[in-house]
Formats: sequence, structure tokens, C-alpha cells
Amino acid sequence: MKDIVAIYPGSFDPVTNGHLDLIRRGSKLFDRLIVAIARNLDKGEALFSLAERREMLVAMTSELDNVCVDTFEGLLVAYCISKNANAVLRGIRAVSDYEFELQMALMNRKMEPRVETVFMMPAEQYSYLSSRIVREIARLGGPLTGLVPNMVEERVRQKIAQTHAVHTSTHLL
Ligand code: PNS
Repeated sequence: MKDIVAIYPGSFDPVTNGHLDLIRRGSKLFDRLIVAIARNLDKGEALFSLAERREMLVAMTSELDNVCVDTFEGLLVAYCISKNANAVLRGIRAVSDYEFELQMALMNRKMEPRVETVFMMPAEQYSYLSSRIVREIARLGGPLTGLVPNMVEERVRQKIAQTHAVHTSTHLL
């Protein structure tokens, strides 16, 4: 039997319950799953540093023996080859995700035919959930219950309070 190593790439800014649902599903399907946090230069200012995102993901996946967390820079397919991975795992929530995911999967396949993309659906209660929406709700003081783990909720609230304090103090200068 082939040893299937899959990479689950993303920004994870921050990790949500939807991501964790997919990680659990992936860990049952693949021999090894590497959750790979991208240093994503296109996405502008991130809420959390790579190290902070990694720390939260490590804490949230510690009970899954075949899952590890890493960071990467540059092309995803180059990273896959460097890790001897044969699959990329991506979650599809709604039809709106499909177009972008299809483009990415086909482009990755064109660049590196040895790596297959596997799509999985998260549990339906997470189908409207994204890190972007979590950041927005948190910035506007809304509830994050059920969207992210408690530890992540606490870290998001601390971070928003810190950023707010820095903005207020620079305005006062
Ligand atoms: O969680 P996200 O932001 O939807 O993840 C997007 C990510 C990080 C998977 C994607 O931007 C990516 O693969 N970036 C690495 C650079 C790369 O390989 N780009 C070419 C994609 S065809």
C-alpha cells in the first residue's frame, strides 16, 4: 500500500472550527497530514504572526498523532515535493469556493502532476465560516462562540484589544 502524505495549506489567520473539522476528517483518510501555514504576501496585514498561528494550530491538533504543523513560503507544489507529499487537501464550503479552488488545483497540477488535490466538505454548520468573517466579527465586538475554539477566541480578543490600544495611542500623539 502507498503511504499517502497530504498537505493541508492555508492562511489560518486564525484557525477556525471549520479548519479543525477538515483536519480531523483528513487525519482519518491520509497516513500523514501536514497542516502548512502559508506566508501569504498577497493578503496584506495578517492579524496573527506565523508563529502565533502555528502555536494555536499545534495546541488544537495535539491529540491527532498523524498530524503535524509547519509553515511554508513560495510555491505550494514545491513545498509538497520537498515533503514527499502526494496530495493537497482543500475544503470546499459552497459553490462560490469552487471556481477559485478549481483554478488553483488545475494550475498546481499543471506545474506538478505528481501532486493530486483532494477536496473535502466540512460539516454543514461550518459552511458559512471563514477566518475573514471571524476577524470581522471580533473587530466589531460580536460573539465567536462555536466559530473558533475557546483558546483561539481568547487570543483573538486579546489581539484586537492590543491593536485597538496601539491605534488609540498613536492617534493621541
Ligand atoms: O486559506 P487560504 O488563504 O485560502 O489559502 C490559500 C493558499 C495559501 C493555499 C494559496 O494562496 C497558496 O497555495 N499559496 C502558495 C503560493 C502558490 O503556490 N501559489 C500558486 C497557486 S496556483
